[in-house]
This record gives sequence, C-alpha cells and structure tokens, in this order.
Amino acid sequence: MALEWWRKAVVYQIYIRSFADSDGDGDGDIGGIRSRLPYLRDLGVDAIWITPWYPSPMADGGYDVADYRDVDRRFGSLNGARRLIEDAHAAELRLMIDIVPNHTSSEHRWFREAWASPRGSAARARYHFRDGRGPGGSEPPNNWRSVFGGSAWTPAPDDGAEPRQWYLHLFDEAQPDLNWDNAEVRAEFESILECWLAMGVDGFRIDVASFLLKAAGLPDVPDHSEAISRADDAAWDPAAHPYENQAGLHEIYRRWRAIADRHPGTVFCGEVHLPAEGIAGYLRPGELHTAFNFDFALRPWNAAALRASIDTTLAAHEAVGAPPTWVIGNHDLPRPAYRYGRRAARGGDGWNAWQRNGPADRARGLARARAAALLGLALPGSAYIYQGDELGLPEILDLPPEARQDPTFRRSGGADVGRDGTRIPLPWSGSEPPFGFGPPGSRPWLPQPGQWWELSVEAESRDPSSTLSLYRAAIRLRRDHPGFDSGSFRWLPSVAGTLLFGRGGGLACAVNLSDDPMPLPRGSRFLLSSAPVGSDSVGPDSAAWLQLPEAEQAGQAGQTEEA
Ligand code: GLC
Repeated sequence: MALEWWRKAVVYQIYIRSFADSDGDGDGDIGGIRSRLPYLRDLGVDAIWITPWYPSPMADGGYDVADYRDVDRRFGSLNGARRLIEDAHAAELRLMIDIVPNHTSSEHRWFREAWASPRGSAARARYHFRDGRGPGGSEPPNNWRSVFGGSAWTPAPDDGAEPRQWYLHLFDEAQPDLNWDNAEVRAEFESILECWLAMGVDGFRIDVASFLLKAAGLPDVPDHSEAISRADDAAWDPAAHPYENQAGLHEIYRRWRAIADRHPGTVFCGEVHLPAEGIAGYLRPGELHTAFNFDFALRPWNAAALRASIDTTLAAHEAVGAPPTWVIGNHDLPRPAYRYGRRAARGGDGWNAWQRNGPADRARGLARARAAALLGLALPGSAYIYQGDELGLPEILDLPPEARQDPTFRRSGGADVGRDGTRIPLPWSGSEPPFGFGPPGSRPWLPQPGQWWELSVEAESRDPSSTLSLYRAAIRLRRDHPGFDSGSFRWLPSVAGTLLFGRGGGLACAVNLSDDPMPLPRGSRFLLSSAPVGSDSVGPDSAAWLQLPEAEQAGQAGQTEEA
C-alpha cells in the first residue's frame, strides 16, 4: 500500500462504545470491532479511526484518559488491541487511534499526584494550577468558560492557605488541562506516540489539537460570545482565543512529525477548529499531514455557502501541499440526516443552523445527507465517514434525561442536550433492541429506538436503494474510477442553487440544492445518484456522479486546475 495512502483515503470513524458489543456489557468493544471487520472491508473504506479506548472513568466518553498506554477493560485489553491491529492489516485496513494531549482524566496518576502535592510543586506544574482572584482567592483566576458550559476552573483542595488555588479545565472538571510548557509533558507524549507506533497503529487523530498551549499569563477573554472557537468565522480574532492556536504549537507538531517520519506510512489528523487558512498553518511541510475540515461540515444546505467553503478549503490546502479532508458527521455533531433537514439549515444562518432545538424534516434531511455524502466523496482529498451515517441514522432527540451521559447536558444545566443523540449504539440486525449491537438480551449503554430494525445493516443490505447501498456503491466507484486518482478539480457552469464540478477523466459531480430540477450537460451519463433521477436532470436535494460526454471532457482537459 502506498505510503501516502492518507492523501485520498476514506476513513471510517468508530465510536467504540457504540459500534459493536461482543461481551454483552452494553458497551461496544475491541472484540466487536474485530467481528465487524468484514463489514468495513465490504463497505470499502481504506482506514478506521477508533475513538479513545484507554482506561477512563468515562466522564466524557473516554476523552478523559487515565492511562495512555493501556486499554480500558470494558473495551478489551492490550492484547486484544494488538490482535485487532493485525486483523485490520490483514483486511487491508489502516488503523488510527485517538490521542488526547490537551487534558488527562482527573484519575490519571499525574493529576492524583498534583492533587495531593503542595502548591508550587513539580507535580502541580504539569497542569495549570493558579491562585484565585477576589477575597481569599474565592473567584476563578480568569474568566475562561468550559466548552461544555460553566467556568473553566475548579478549586484545588483547601490547604488552609490563601489565596485559594484552582485548576484549569477547558472541558469537564474531570479533564484537567495539561501544561504544555512543561518539558516532562512533551516528553511523555512523544513516548506515548512511540509506544503505539511500536504496536503497529498507522496514525493518530489528535484531539483538540489547537488547544494545547495557552497564552502567557492566561489573560481574560475579552468577549464571551467569542469564547468558543468557531470554524465558520472569517473574522476569527486571536485575542479572543488565548487558549487556542498559539504560535508555539507548531514546534510541538514538528517534533511529532519527525516521529511519524521515522515510521513511514504514519498519519496525523488534527482536530483543528479554525478557518481554512488557520488549519493549513498546521499542515505546512514538516507539520501535521491532515486536519479535519469543520467549516465544510458546519455549512448549511446552501449552494453558495458550500461552494465558498470548498473554494477556500482547496486554495488553503493547495498552498501548503496537503490534502483536504471532507467531513459531514462525527460523534460531536448532530447526525447529517437531521442537521440538513432543519429549516434553519436551508439559508445562510451559519452556526445556529445546527442547534438542536427546532423542527426538522426527516425525509428531506435524509435526502440531503445522501447528496452531501456524494459531494464529500467526490472532492479531492480524503473523506471521513462517521459510523451510522452510512445507514442514514437520524439524530435521537427524545432521550430521557436520566439516560443522558454527555457532560455538556449536566454542565449547561440541560440547556444544551449534548451529543448523546448522535452516539446511539448501531443497529446491525434483527427486529428488536439491541439489534445485533450486543448479544440478545443485552442492554446498550444508550437506548435504541424500537423501529431501528428498518435502519439496520441487515435491512439496508437487502435494499438496493438504501443509504448503505449508496455508500457502498460510491466508495467502490471512488476506488475504481480513474477520475478520482488525480487531484484535478474544476467548477463547471450550472444554474443558480446547484453545484457542478469536474474531476479527471470526464468524471463530474452534480448537486442540486435548489427547489427545481437541475439540468445536466447534454449527453452526460449517470454513474451513481443519491435519488432516482430524470433522463437529463437531477431533482432537488439530490446529487449524482456523471460521466461527461467527450466534447465536455475536451473542454475540461484544457482548463483543469490542480487542486
Ligand atoms: C474533542 C472530542 C470531543 C471531546 C473533546 C474533549 O472535541 O471530539 O468528543 O469531548 O474533544 O476531549
């Protein structure tokens, strides 16, 4: 397999807790993944990325890591992980794992030591402990907010002295932020990377990669409305983000890249919530290979908005010679089949477009999610598929409060229902829960809707018009059609509210985001479509892959832009 496989790979994201449960304890696990490798191979993906499997108290679904060199017993064992890596490689699948460097769990031995150590100690210097403000230090050291709601500071144990000390956590209080100015922290993570590379993993998805370093002095955020990072904000203001995108991060990732280069074929994918140019800053030669493109994921179902995102993404990545990634779903975002069905997602209303509260048109949402899948898979670069999006799963909105586990729900006092609705355990087969997710009679960690039998892998495999059949066909075509091999990309003329672009070899992708049929270049041949099509048009909320007639191809060849 080519060493630069990641330049155009289709990567499947496994949220391990919700993928497949081999032992019936309600949580997905490594055994479950191993048993479903044939499914992934059939789907045709090149690689899998597995969300954190490390020992964890699960305060944030495993993004609170207590030991970076082991596997949580609920997910399996180190030996199981080794076997999975071997099996995946035998099935020609690359395997990426999640690395979570911004914070540890409060149960990590380092934080326990810091908790028990005096102020000013070396143990506390691995984290951000600071004196509080106000009388006796009773107020947090600055005004930063947790991404999950509430203050980003929690008091340290009361040692009787004043001012009181606090520790920083940009996420849950059970996820204390590490101090990346500390040499021991840096050395430890380099050694953790080496440890997993020695076990054979092919790469790492870097959790909140742009958060690690904080501005000196931890200054207040000037404006709270700006406090949470926003990928779709062209006017991104660095002063509003003293905990994000600090210049020193590039040095850290240059060192990481040197480690990857010693293990050819290794890839890093950074979770970088920045506009395209900010992302590209991390993908310069000698830094990360790839990063998630959230701007594209967060755009509403609107032709101009998506086109602008594609243009800025391609230009920014081309400038640094890195492949873009195309993402429409992950474990933090509401399901695309829901997001694109929101009325608000119709216009250009950006960030609010995917807020959870408000009506969604289910059929329309699914139609658009299918079209968006063909769009993302047709663009040059690599594409990520979040488990269950290939089944067209909807967002589950009506989970009872006692079932909810995302810390966002608790920390926002219920104002934000959080991300559990996108993490419901997958339906594989059968007519009642757990739908093959676990052995019969087992209870998944989040309840599955009773009618999910219709969306199971088994049911969708039988139906040639299912979302699963569409994904399978698209990924196969993406592998087989030479038009996908080159990086070439160019926009072709099309009517308002639609997108039409050509790749190599006469391959084109048409997406109709308008309310009218979209006429196609005369003589185009359909290769694949997200919905039934007319003889020479694509209906609203649909997309198609086309083979252009030779005349069009000739014109195309003359104007191809290398993306
Ligand atoms: C990333 C993860 C998210 C997690 C957060 C804190 O954004 O994708 O699930 O809650 O980091 O680790």
